[in-house]
Amino acid sequence: MPEASPSEVPQTKTYKRIMLKMSGEVLMGNDEYGLDPETVKRVALDIKEVVDSGIEVCVVVGAGNIFRGVAGAAAGMDRTTADYMGMLGIVINALALQNALEHIGIQTRVQSGIRMDSICEPYIRRKAMRHMEKGRVVIFAAGTGNPYFTSDTAGALRASEMDCDAIFKGTKVDGIYTADPKKDPEAKRYDNISFIDVLTNDLKVMDATAISLARENNIPIIVFSVEEKGNFAKVARSEGQFTIVSNNY
Ligand code: GTP
Repeated sequence: MPEASPSEVPQTKTYKRIMLKMSGEVLMGNDEYGLDPETVKRVALDIKEVVDSGIEVCVVVGAGNIFRGVAGAAAGMDRTTADYMGMLGIVINALALQNALEHIGIQTRVQSGIRMDSICEPYIRRKAMRHMEKGRVVIFAAGTGNPYFTSDTAGALRASEMDCDAIFKGTKVDGIYTADPKKDPEAKRYDNISFIDVLTNDLKVMDATAISLARENNIPIIVFSVEEKGNFAKVARSEGQFTIVSNNY
């Protein structure tokens, strides 16, 4: 494992367009399952703060609060069917987030990787780009539209396609640590770490496909806590605590 040391890479950066990748679990708040309306509203307000600061934002969310493809497969379902059910769970989360954002005056478009034209737009790269240029938040739903991929991979893929400057990976902790900070009081947070170190040490930031895609396309991943109100905007201003995964370290 590399040592956690003070940053040698300047951390301040001005972003033009970013991807927010969140797990579905974030949206359930303290509940065991589903969507907590207060939490969805709070996440929407956090996104609004970043949009209002002039940064273009797109979002990919998971579906662990509704259905996990991997768990379905483990319980004996066909993996492909379980994955499709997970992708439909993502659409539910995307619509909830769209609704919450539009209630606070943020224009949004949901684009799905699986066509469901009565509900949302199909994924069309150039149209998504135009939406963002017009200040709309684009929520990419249904993952990549393919089984055997995760929403993390969808986040890295859409971020690459959208020419995002960074992927903001919203988690429960404020970065990547040398050990689990809840179990080990000696655990230290990395300010910077390389994609290679994340992959070789199997640090569970995002799955390996997503990390590889971000690495190949040179898109840094900023790991931060999405649970604290206002933290997304703070980290987008390069303030507060977070870890940057990049090729530059
Ligand atoms: P501009 O071309 O920039 O004006 O974008 P726009 O999204 O406002 O224009 P468009 O006429 O494409 O869409 C108008 C509304 O219809 C928006 O709310 C879109 O999200 C929605 N819309 C567009 N295409 C589809 C679709 O295939 N399915 C669904 N359900 N809604 C769509």
